[in-house]
Amino acid sequence: MTGGERSVRSGIRFDQVSVAYGGNTVLDRLDLTVEPGEVMALLGPSGSGKTTALRAVAGFVQPASGRVYLGDRDVTGLPPHKRGIGMVVQQYALFPHMRVQDNVAFGLKARKVAKDGIPERVAEALDMVGMAAYAKRYPRELSGGQQQRVAIARALAIRPGVLLLDEPLSALDAQLRSGMLAELARLHRELPDVSILYVTHDQVEALTLADRIAVMDKARLQDCGTPQDLYRRPRTEFTASFVGNANLLPVTVADGADTVDFAGRALGVPTGEASRGATATLCVRPHLVGLGDGPNALNGTITEVQWRGSTHRLYVDIDGHRVKADVKELRETPVLGDRVTLHFAAEDAVLLPAGAAEGAGGGTDG
Ligand SMILES: Nc1ncnc2c1ncn2[C@@H]1O[C@H](COP(=O)(O)OP(=O)(O)O)[C@@H](O)[C@H]1O
Ligand SMILES: [Mg+2]
Repeated sequence: MTGGERSVRSGIRFDQVSVAYGGNTVLDRLDLTVEPGEVMALLGPSGSGKTTALRAVAGFVQPASGRVYLGDRDVTGLPPHKRGIGMVVQQYALFPHMRVQDNVAFGLKARKVAKDGIPERVAEALDMVGMAAYAKRYPRELSGGQQQRVAIARALAIRPGVLLLDEPLSALDAQLRSGMLAELARLHRELPDVSILYVTHDQVEALTLADRIAVMDKARLQDCGTPQDLYRRPRTEFTASFVGNANLLPVTVADGADTVDFAGRALGVPTGEASRGATATLCVRPHLVGLGDGPNALNGTITEVQWRGSTHRLYVDIDGHRVKADVKELRETPVLGDRVTLHFAAEDAVLLPAGAAEGAGGGTDG
């Protein structure tokens, strides 16, 4: 390493950033901070504004309002090449007529790094992604996964303080993807000062890689927290259903303390500040629903059984509501139409505002 040149630890901060295309707001007052050295996943369905947010950090899109900071530097008006950012997109975007080493050197030349220092920097970057042996090849002589490694090396060669990754694995097949996920995690361990903003629509990638996940939907930030937080304590129906699997049961907050009404049954769950008589949604993860008698027992009829190797997924009809239970593989496969009892512990249930997810829908823009 030439030393001293790698950018100082600099997080990313969106301050009320909005982006509009032809009067259509596609990013709506985003407030989000990525701490120095943190991996933040931007997770959301297609069209939710993730790429737009990333491009605002890179400088390829100008916000209609709001500011973007790298560390304490306001970069909102700065051209992309002056931001010290490395970026990798879904379609490798390597120059086809250039050898691997020249692709990786490209950003260094553009940034006027001293010529005699370039080969060392290229070698270092290729080494980091395990592609040192491929320096002389052309992109067409590489597999998709290898091309994406080169793209990552190219981004790392400039020794960025901030790395932006936009669905970097989505063009790869499932097996390659899981290998690359592990590689990205290792890379981050080797570069603990680099802040990473990782755009994905894949919850497994977000749960695996991210220190925190920012959940996007319909141009807005819906939720933000550690993977465990969002999984155990989602704050909206959208998060509950997008991060992990969820039973979302319509309930009414009952008069008694910590009691709700579900399909004519009283269930004991923490109701927090919710007011009596309010409609709400109860979130219970399928793997926390048990088979047999217990607290919050619910009787119903099995309507579907899926064998998933180590578990059985049961779909149980409870007065017209479909409840999913993932139970340890059963010795005897349950029979459709059987009456069963399900149960769950009060502390495994989370009460959410009713219809938050549906309520936000309808229109195309917010
Ligand atoms: N250059 C553009 N011109 C017009 N509309 C755009 C442009 N880029 C993105 N959009 C629109 O902005 C919305 C958000 O897009 P994007 O940020 O790419 O979403 P995501 O990455 O979450 O799939 C989409 O509705 C998309 O069609
Ligand atoms: Mg996108």
